Amino acid sequence: MGLRGKDLIEVRGLEPAEIELILDTAESMKEIASRAIKKVPTLRGKTVVNLFLEPSTRTRTSFEIAGKWLSADVVNVSGSASSVVKGETLMDTAKNLEAMSPDCVVIRHAMAGAPHMLARALRAAIINAGDGAHEHPTQALLDLLTIREKKGHLDGLKAAIVGDIAHSRVARSNIYGMRKMGMTVTVAGPPTLIPPGVEELGVKVAHRLEEAIRDVDVVMMLRLQQERMQAALIPSLREYARLWGLTLDRLAAAREDVLIMHPGPVNRGVELAPEVADSRYSVILDQVANGVAVRMALLYLLIGGKPAEAGA
Ligand code: CP
Repeated sequence: MGLRGKDLIEVRGLEPAEIELILDTAESMKEIASRAIKKVPTLRGKTVVNLFLEPSTRTRTSFEIAGKWLSADVVNVSGSASSVVKGETLMDTAKNLEAMSPDCVVIRHAMAGAPHMLARALRAAIINAGDGAHEHPTQALLDLLTIREKKGHLDGLKAAIVGDIAHSRVARSNIYGMRKMGMTVTVAGPPTLIPPGVEELGVKVAHRLEEAIRDVDVVMMLRLQQERMQAALIPSLREYARLWGLTLDRLAAAREDVLIMHPGPVNRGVELAPEVADSRYSVILDQVANGVAVRMALLYLLIGGKPAEAGA
């Protein structure tokens, strides 16, 4: 089993054994971050294009670092600095990039399905770095790596995902990934931000924050994705924070060994109180560090050489 020559578009389509392979490979990549010279020759001669047509700090930067640490040539193309602003279509942009023979195109786009379109049309490996409200597979994989690292296993763990579930590609990818790896998932948030029929994904729905976080191993807090809301779905940020913001007082309902996660960017004082974001329960910066390792693993597995060369 391997991923060479494939694309990474969704967690939904991954086998549990493929997720294990990605997490194990990422774990072996982590050591490179502690070296004085953070560079291995694994992807020498390979070219990775980061095509980010939506804002990003963590994902874009970590894909760039991952590619550079593996010795790939990395090219960043952003929406505002590309010919997209002159009216070029996504497909024309992608085909023009492919004419320059990249081995991998990492794409973030506001439209769900954009990475699928590219995967059908391009020879290069396509990695979805977030498409609309559909999926953000590399985020879920780095989240799973962080949970496995902290808890020692995934099977049998309980997670609560809290906030704007309806517009969250992070929630969707994590639900698929956590369920595939044997975890139990509860989602919680205002009724307007819980998609109808979400139970069909194998999750429970809680209607109060305290109910959701009681007795779980992991609490994943989500940002309100206001850029994807067509209408006002909450009365006000203040009201949202009062009912759904995780404060130290509210955290008392959770287990003593709970992990607090957030994909970032955090809106401090809205979904997460600063004292919780910076508390000993928070693994938010571990998630960010693991993002580099997971993205190195994926670049290596999709476009790299033989398995024995990982981390060489
Ligand atoms: N988690 C995440 O996707 O963060 P960025 O938007 O900064 O990439």
